[in-house]
Amino acid sequence: MPFNRHRVSPPPRRVLVTGGLSGLGLAFVELFVARGDRVLATDLADEAPAGSLPRGAAYRRLDVRADADWSAARVAVETDWGGLDVLVNNAGIAVGGRIDIAEMSEWEAILAVNLLGVVRGCRTFTPVFKRQGAGTIVNVASLAGVVHAPAMASYNSAKAGVVALSETLRHELAPHGVQVSVVCPAFLRTNLAASLRGADAEAEAAKDRHLAQARLTPTVVAARALAGVDAGRLLVFTDAIGRVAFWGKRLNTPLYRLAMTVPGRRLAASERRTR
Ligand SMILES: NC(=O)c1ccc[n+]([C@@H]2O[C@H](COP(=O)([O-])OP(=O)(O)OC[C@H]3O[C@@H](n4cnc5c(N)ncnc54)[C@H](O)[C@@H]3O)[C@@H](O)[C@H]2O)c1
Repeated sequence: MPFNRHRVSPPPRRVLVTGGLSGLGLAFVELFVARGDRVLATDLADEAPAGSLPRGAAYRRLDVRADADWSAARVAVETDWGGLDVLVNNAGIAVGGRIDIAEMSEWEAILAVNLLGVVRGCRTFTPVFKRQGAGTIVNVASLAGVVHAPAMASYNSAKAGVVALSETLRHELAPHGVQVSVVCPAFLRTNLAASLRGADAEAEAAKDRHLAQARLTPTVVAARALAGVDAGRLLVFTDAIGRVAFWGKRLNTPLYRLAMTVPGRRLAASERRTR
């Protein structure tokens, strides 16, 4: 059942969160549990480490790259709950890298998790939502999915794909009673920096720096994300910089392009010095 902010005491929803053992995914799990929802957290580990999840949250292993894991998760929620109300496709990894330095294996890894993992989630649960005539899909993209800084091509492309997928499904599934939202945070403090190491050391150092300097916590970002989902938005920005960057790109394209040249020029200058 889609969120309804006008209902005083909504019945508990049945929620599945991918990448639920860390960062933003864990914050979503905590928030849904605090709302009184039934939550299945999923991640790569076979078991959730003791004390890692809030009391009441269930756990199962789900590698978002594996069709068999998705099928098993669908059978589990249909058996235990009779269906699903909210799917949060959150699991993700990150790598930075210039186009001629990052390796193809990095592209393949990023696309497999960040884009095709979300596709697999949507494909698995859309038949359930269609049958119910109701459901909510929350895809976690990134600000990188709508504004594209240099030296992040694989991550930007995967996240832009998630935005396009979400917009497509928004209109495709609305007639079936299914709401689709895509969350686009800027930077927040999580374990994302450690998820993948790319070949471009300089771009990786910039990624680490940005993530280490992030001020927002996963709890704040998850709460803002769910407020946007509750309000029925397609694109959900969780910080002011996201809204400024998104609208700046649309309303002042020359300024946006100028801003994007700065990191590109900095990297090119450093390349020339080390040649
Ligand atoms: N941290 C940020 O600044 C930031 C900004 C914008 C968007 N995001 C997005 O938020 C989402 C959550 O990332 P986070 O920042 O909380 O990072 P995180 O590393 O703290 O959490 C990611 C979780 O995803 C899990 N995961 C990785 N690969 C998986 C797979 N194949 N199958 C299942 N689970 C897998 C990890 O085990 C981990 O628990 C990602 O999609 C990320 O791209 C993060």
